[in-house]
Amino acid sequence: MKAITKYKYGGPEILKLEEVEKPKIKEKHLLIHVKANSVNPADWHILRGKPLFARLTMGFFKPKDTILGADFAGIVEEVGSGVTNFKVGDRVFGEFLDGGGAFAEYACVPEAACGSMPEGTNEIEMAAVPIAGLTALQALITHGKLKEGESVLINGSSGGVGHFTVQVAKAYGAQVTAVCSGRNVDFVKSLGADKVIAYDQESIHQHAGKYDLIIDTNGNLNYADYKRMGKRGIMVGFTTMGHMMSVLLKNLFSKFSLRVFTASANNEDLNTLANLIKEGKVKPHIEKTYPHSEMPEAIAYIESMRTRGKVAISWDL
Ligand SMILES: NC(=O)c1ccc[n+]([C@@H]2O[C@H](COP(=O)([O-])OP(=O)(O)OC[C@H]3O[C@@H](n4cnc5c(N)ncnc54)[C@H](OP(=O)(O)O)[C@@H]3O)[C@@H](O)[C@H]2O)c1
Repeated sequence: MKAITKYKYGGPEILKLEEVEKPKIKEKHLLIHVKANSVNPADWHILRGKPLFARLTMGFFKPKDTILGADFAGIVEEVGSGVTNFKVGDRVFGEFLDGGGAFAEYACVPEAACGSMPEGTNEIEMAAVPIAGLTALQALITHGKLKEGESVLINGSSGGVGHFTVQVAKAYGAQVTAVCSGRNVDFVKSLGADKVIAYDQESIHQHAGKYDLIIDTNGNLNYADYKRMGKRGIMVGFTTMGHMMSVLLKNLFSKFSLRVFTASANNEDLNTLANLIKEGKVKPHIEKTYPHSEMPEAIAYIESMRTRGKVAISWDL
């Protein structure tokens, strides 16, 4: 089978499209014929081996895992022993959990990290959902404990995680104030935000609004911003390790509730997202779709961190 591989740390130019052995089915796993992927900042972090401390698990001098990629959608080709929720021919989407391996024609994934694609959806849009959609749902509901009618400020509302966070927050009955660049104001309004602040016209560090929950997908909020504007906060993204550590250290000595978390795939949350999509409450926005042969270009594009919605990869192009 064809796969996107890496044997050292570096930029998108080191990626290769090459023939590798097809994975073998394992207990409680699905062998999936991958039709589409989406790309995430985690992919270029893993590709570049950054931040450095992450190499403790990824391999210090060179990557342990050869195939890149997390998000996928495709068709179940084989089921392992002990699989209970899926059968051959099911259309599924999910996240490859073990350090990469989804950017390939076939991937062997735990059934626990897969959800069923809703009828009427295609693989390109469902491959956009796993990491970014799970992060939105878990930031708002699992960790943010959002309740109907509460107000939420979403800093970084136009990218992969942000555009899902706006839509999921509205689906759960929140009042949403969203922060993005001026060029994305109309896009974020179209997602359902009640109010949109363009950060290039009004500094978020001076903003006087008060909210029940602050979600920072961009990671540039200071600790003082969380405390000034919010009752509780969730830090999703980070700009620099130094900035993230300074915010978290200040939080150590405060009663303010600020949480940081890493999203994880599970059947229940993937199915919740699938239902929101089926009901028309959430719609993945695909800014661009690249053929699988142009994976380096797709990764280079998202490294700019200015994606509107998501960037997808097709294995049929
Ligand atoms: N904790 C977790 O489990 C988890 C999971 C997934 C992702 N993440 C992290 O979350 C972050 C976002 O991921 P993503 O997939 O959404 O990335 P993305 O698709 O590249 O989106 C980044 C967004 O940041 C916005 N942005 C840039 N500068 C900004 C600023 N000064 N203020 C507010 N927004 C700004 C951009 O919007 P404009 O173009 O409108 O400026 C862009 O849409 C990354 O750091 C990623 O590593 C964490």
